[in-house]
Amino acid sequence: ASLAPLNTFGIDECAEQLCLVHSDAELREALALADQRGWPVQLLGGGSNLVLAGPVSGLTVVMRSRGRRVVRRNGDSALIEAEAGENWHRLVVWSLDLGLHGLENLSLIPGTVGAAPVQNIGAYGVELCDLFDSLQALDRRTGALCWLNREDCRFAYRDSLFKQQPGRYVILRVRLRLHTRPVPRLDYAPLAAAWQALGLKQPDSRVISRLVCDIRRSKLPDPARLGNAGSFFKNPLVSAEQAAAMLARWPGMPHYPQVDGSVKLAAGWLIEQAGWKGHSRERVGVHREQALVLVNLGGARGGDIMALARDIQQDIERRFGLQLEMEPQLLGN
Ligand code: EPU
Repeated sequence: ASLAPLNTFGIDECAEQLCLVHSDAELREALALADQRGWPVQLLGGGSNLVLAGPVSGLTVVMRSRGRRVVRRNGDSALIEAEAGENWHRLVVWSLDLGLHGLENLSLIPGTVGAAPVQNIGAYGVELCDLFDSLQALDRRTGALCWLNREDCRFAYRDSLFKQQPGRYVILRVRLRLHTRPVPRLDYAPLAAAWQALGLKQPDSRVISRLVCDIRRSKLPDPARLGNAGSFFKNPLVSAEQAAAMLARWPGMPHYPQVDGSVKLAAGWLIEQAGWKGHSRERVGVHREQALVLVNLGGARGGDIMALARDIQQDIERRFGLQLEMEPQLLGN
């Protein structure tokens, strides 16, 4: 079965076996069959953080479970729960419509609820872990269901337990702790500027959500029109000394000091400085509005994307002495 409609890069590769699961029971059935046949198992959510390098052997399981609810409200907070197969942005809209606050900055991120903890999705000054309560997963090592709290999940920038131990857990449902009153997060300067320009007196999470959607649409290509997987590289973390040395040479370089003393740099800026923004080849290119996003210009294979990524990595290494780490997951062979 072709995976082209199941990955936002739009890469046309096949899965040897493909199965859509809608419940815990269907998942267990699929995993049991895979065990019995000796098939390796790959899990897929929205396919929005994926580069298919070739056909995917074994069984590809697509999580399609649905459902979301308010578990309880107490005082200033509300605990919500959503099934792994739910669309992330629809969960954001649903929570805002219920008068719950906190997810507005994470509006319009492609993908599913179950994939969100894997890379600890983050945007515009908020990360999933800021709102995360717990999740239920199937531990494939023991076959048991388990609840993991925020500490268990070892969240870090674009990182979690699920990236550190790939294949071990299948995330079934996620619980988030939201606010019953607005708690605006306007640390991201362009968002703060857009909010202030409106001149509103009261904080309004739905308006912030709309502004975030506008900013995203202006920079990030719509995968339905131009295949992509969002940011292709992580923003590099460097020591304070290295950041200072680089700033002496490139005074305009964006840099974000972190609580642990390290400094986060903007990979998009580095790639733009190196002249790659808007670069295009036969089937792949670097997005015109955001140099951190690689795009499928039509008919790209995983190999085309990886070749471009490698050229960019080598160039950035040569110019800035920095290694850019790829963000999406590489699948297939
Ligand atoms: N910049 C450039 N040129 C570019 C791109 C960026 O000079 O082509 C500069 C910007 O001017 C800005 C800085 O780099 O000073 C940072 O850019 P931006 O605010 O656009 O964010 P980013 O660091 O490129 C990260 C996330 C995005 C997230 C945005 C907003 C990563 C890998 N990416 O991008 O997440 O939406 O911040 O918070 O951390 C994703 O992960 O797929 C994703 C889109």
